[in-house]
Amino acid sequence: MGVAVHVEGLTKSFGSQNIWSDVTLTLPPGEISVMLGPSGTGKSVFLKSLVGLLKPERGSIVMSDTDIVTCSERELYDVRRLFGVLFQDGALFGSMNLYDNVAFPLREHTKKSEAEVRRIVLEKMDMVGLTGTEGKLPGEISGGMRKRAGIARALVLDPEVILFDEPDSGLDPVRVAYLNQLIVDLNAQIDATFLIVTHDIGTARTVPDNLGLLFRRHLAMFGPREQLLTSQEPVVRQFLNGRREGPIGMSEEKDVAQVEAEMAALEARGGDQHNGVGPKGASGGEAVPPQLEPSPGLPERKAVRRRQERVARMLHTFDPATAEAIRASLPQDLLALADAGVYEPTAATPSGRHWRAEPGSEIAATGAGVPGPRGER
Ligand SMILES: Nc1ncnc2c1ncn2[C@@H]1O[C@H](COP(=O)(O)OP(=O)(O)OP(=O)(O)O)[C@@H](O)[C@H]1O
Ligand SMILES: [Mg+2]
Repeated sequence: MGVAVHVEGLTKSFGSQNIWSDVTLTLPPGEISVMLGPSGTGKSVFLKSLVGLLKPERGSIVMSDTDIVTCSERELYDVRRLFGVLFQDGALFGSMNLYDNVAFPLREHTKKSEAEVRRIVLEKMDMVGLTGTEGKLPGEISGGMRKRAGIARALVLDPEVILFDEPDSGLDPVRVAYLNQLIVDLNAQIDATFLIVTHDIGTARTVPDNLGLLFRRHLAMFGPREQLLTSQEPVVRQFLNGRREGPIGMSEEKDVAQVEAEMAALEARGGDQHNGVGPKGASGGEAVPPQLEPSPGLPERKAVRRRQERVARMLHTFDPATAEAIRASLPQDLLALADAGVYEPTAATPSGRHWRAEPGSEIAATGAGVPGPRGER
């Protein structure tokens, strides 16, 4: 099973330019999370910070008892092996064929024999549907195939945490649909912790367990996908509906008066009515669409039940619309516990986090704690 990643109070600047401050969230083990945000808000910087390529000046990133922000080079080298990363630009070596590209981390980081390297490379290339293309150079294949080769390379060290930076950019809608299915299928097969940066709202609505939004140098929100999909926060609604009206502008942030005028005009036209016709899969309406399931023949995602237990415990912390959407995803046994008040705060433990998983529960074993709606523990 993938490991939890606990990010607390993370702040990153380049010189005098602050990128974001005080980012706090937990990536729950084995779950799929998506990070959204306008261009330039520092999503790629966030991913690079997670793998220790960039050093935030404040805060912590704790994974398997190691703080990636403050650990030694030696510890960083070890902890980095737990990550599989698909960078935004793909970063394949242009002069190496796909086989050698995918084999690269194995040859760099392990002492495996070439026979074993071969077995792993062919297995991962098969997982991403690239069997038969081993001899091609990156320049000879389509953008979608390059993305999948990058994913195969991210998988060869059997990562516990997988970071994908815009895996779907530049792909046609059908390929995005295949890629989304591939992501869900991979998660079902390896149960690693996934974080995906994307601008595709259709992906954000249907793939992840959790959704976050970076905006104005802060994490505007992070929580179960139902929380963002039912949110009334202007910036969340603007982003998920892909419209011009709202706090996000083309180049700089808008002032309050301009936003208010835009919102009044939008309201006069009937609000977010353009169901399903916004750009990049953005749509109006309130619905929380069903989550994508693994392909027939694959195992269930193990994270599903863990997540249900986790969000059942958080149920009383959400507003009614979010709670209703989450309830629709819960099985009877957990709904019964929630309705019996088992997870409610008591006088003795007013935070409402007194609940402990039963012995043997995977959640207790991970020590992942009980993240609040914004991911705080
Ligand atoms: N190594 C660096 N040195 C200085 N500034 C940097 C560095 N890397 C990123 N930045 C700055 O950090 C800001 C955020 O960049 P980042 O690439 O993380 O944005 P993003 O959210 O990924 O955008 P996009 O959606 O367009 O990919 C930008 O202003 C960028 O210029
Ligand atoms: Mg980026």
